Amino acid sequence: MRFSIRQRTLHNGQLRSTVQVHTDGEDLDMSEQAPMTPGHGHGHDFDRAYWERHWRQDRTSDRGSMSGNPPNPHLAREIGHLVPGTALDAGCGAGAEAIWLAEHGWQVTAADISTEALARAADRAAASGVGDSVQWVAADLCDWAPAAPFDLVTTAYAHPAVPQLAFYERIARWVAPGGTLLVVGHLHGHSHGDAEDVDGQPPAEATATAASVTALLEDTEWDDAGWDVVTAAELHRTITAPDGRLVELHDVVVRATRRR
Ligand SMILES: C[S@@+](CC[C@H](N)C(=O)[O-])C[C@H]1O[C@@H](n2cnc3c(N)ncnc32)[C@H](O)[C@@H]1O
Repeated sequence: MRFSIRQRTLHNGQLRSTVQVHTDGEDLDMSEQAPMTPGHGHGHDFDRAYWERHWRQDRTSDRGSMSGNPPNPHLAREIGHLVPGTALDAGCGAGAEAIWLAEHGWQVTAADISTEALARAADRAAASGVGDSVQWVAADLCDWAPAAPFDLVTTAYAHPAVPQLAFYERIARWVAPGGTLLVVGHLHGHSHGDAEDVDGQPPAEATATAASVTALLEDTEWDDAGWDVVTAAELHRTITAPDGRLVELHDVVVRATRRR
């Protein structure tokens, strides 16, 4: 089956548009994935316009700014011991995790729906000396699919305009046999200290629990890959926001290895 991938990549800070046609989708069973349509009922449309606006308004000094954030500590703890290979950071934002991965030897593809986020990420990567080690992809991950699976697929707090578990199911398909999926998300039922909160809480559709992500991976209806869940945790941490305030974060962290 043939399918098209429309993507824009950033090279040395320059956006390039490309359209690729692949014929190797059958091997990966990714070509069967229909683009996802927004099925949300919450107060936000987490679509491209929302995220572009979010990043254009984000100032590093803002309370919930993610522009200058350090790499997510769950990444180093969960991934630090793995042998580096290819990695996808799904919803990379300002690039902290993609840069960390590149600095630790991974060949990184970092994708985000927001060109503004990617421009900031590319600038940070260049400043960190790993600008050439990351391929930046401007794409809606609900209708983009990679040409080949990755040794690691990781996502941190990315919540698109589709239910959260549907997004995790989609990106889990992009993990190579023997590879790793690392999900870091907003924990269901808790507030989160960034700008997209609604009344102090992310909408339910943008959250998950360790049990719900684990159940997704154990559900053979959608995938017979088979997963070994290594970490399934609900963790709470305090960070210092750019304005000096302490912010409580409530995270769900799931790491799993794909058997086949
Ligand atoms: C809350 S931010 C987190 C960014 C980064 N991972 C971090 O932890 O700092 C969520 C990111 O997901 C991206 N995103 C949301 N929906 C997306 C989609 N459908 N495809 C690709 N990226 C998306 C947003 O643009 C945003 O950068």
